[in-house]
Amino acid sequence: MKIPPELRPTRQAGGVAGFDLALRAGTTEFFTGQPAPTWGINGSYLGPTVRVSRGDKVAMRVTNEIGEPTTLHWHGMRLPAKMDGGPHQMIAPRATWTPEWTVDQPAATSWYHPHPHERTAMHVYRGAAGLLLIDDEHTNALDLPSEYGIDDIPLIIQDKRFNDDGTLHEAAVDSGTFGFLGDEILINGTHNPSLEVTAERVRFRILNASNARVYRVGFADNRSFHVIGNDAGLLPEPVQVDRVKLSPGERAEIVVAFTAAERVVMNSLGEDHSDADSIERDEFDLLRITAAARLSPAKTLPARLSAEPAIEPRTGAQVRRFVLTGTEINDKTMDMRRIDEVVPAGAQEIWELDNTTYAHNFHIHEVAFRVLDINGAPPPAYMRGPKDTVFVPKRAKVRLAVTFGTYTDPGSPYMYHCHILRHEDQGMMGQFVIAKPGTEQQVPRTLPDAA
Ligand code: C2O
Ligand code: CU
Ligand code: CU
Repeated sequence: MKIPPELRPTRQAGGVAGFDLALRAGTTEFFTGQPAPTWGINGSYLGPTVRVSRGDKVAMRVTNEIGEPTTLHWHGMRLPAKMDGGPHQMIAPRATWTPEWTVDQPAATSWYHPHPHERTAMHVYRGAAGLLLIDDEHTNALDLPSEYGIDDIPLIIQDKRFNDDGTLHEAAVDSGTFGFLGDEILINGTHNPSLEVTAERVRFRILNASNARVYRVGFADNRSFHVIGNDAGLLPEPVQVDRVKLSPGERAEIVVAFTAAERVVMNSLGEDHSDADSIERDEFDLLRITAAARLSPAKTLPARLSAEPAIEPRTGAQVRRFVLTGTEINDKTMDMRRIDEVVPAGAQEIWELDNTTYAHNFHIHEVAFRVLDINGAPPPAYMRGPKDTVFVPKRAKVRLAVTFGTYTDPGSPYMYHCHILRHEDQGMMGQFVIAKPGTEQQVPRTLPDAA
């Protein structure tokens, strides 16, 4: 299995960590001798694992060499809206975009991917995506497995279809009700991956970077393991499970114990995709793992993980309700010029998702949230950490306690949307701005133009 290279700052001057990222078109051999046209960042498929630390001033230089307009969104980052890389920050072909911000959020496994209006599904499917890991001092001191590629291993899961000549089958990406469901799995861009582990305890940072598929990740022998982190940071303490459900955009950090010389398969059991237009298979082997004959000894897993206070809704918190239908949120589809919600800076709110149709999920830019309940019941313990994306089952109600940041810019919206990329492209997305508390009523609800 390929491991995406780590990207440490490529330029460093005046206390600023600079990163150069180029979106490129190239070819990738998923099958030996069969080059397929693909997209990647600083390479032909996927991108490097960008590594930043809390407190860093980050200066990105993002160059678009794919031949069509796109964007690069920092999914999971708390930053000013103009730096977010959403559909308003288009990068013209051959142009360079240079967002800068100061990292001020807890350690987490985030990621980046294009976000052009109505074109995200194809851009991600072709391979433009990568991990963005945030480190912080508290987490560095925890003694978690943290040797990148050795006992701290990223797993970017994507489902694909291939043509007979080994190229990516693209025709189905922008069609269908539910979105694209593939019949083959890639991990880190590797088809049929295998991995030798050399430690008794290995941390996997799992990202579901698929267009639509939901996975239930675990092991063929149903062994248990610990979840230590959700999308936006560590859990309060490790939670023992034997399956983790991940919808598109969601991440989980897990720690798995191995014994010398054993073999086990990481797999995904079926999720309910029964509303999909066609489904041939829903259970997959993800990764064949072999443990080396001698393993480096495991450290004990810390009993306490996150030092952050849990996200608690304030009494009297504002409640906003979002009704999800096939491709609409609150009976509206995405309008680049319309501001749907105005949120006061630093707010803690309750967002209620009411799904009236088949399965969706919901991602909010800029924020961290905690899932309060799903159909009135608390979520499983492994989902009680900070998140930015949540699966919303068929006809379910999900309530979130959401904390917003303090970068005010009433003219620059952030997005919330279904992260099933087909739905997002069909307009299942809305826009919110963050305004100075008390000025919400004065914020214009229409932007001057779509630029
Ligand atoms: Cu991962 Cu608005 O996106
Ligand atoms: Cu995002
Ligand atoms: Cu959806």
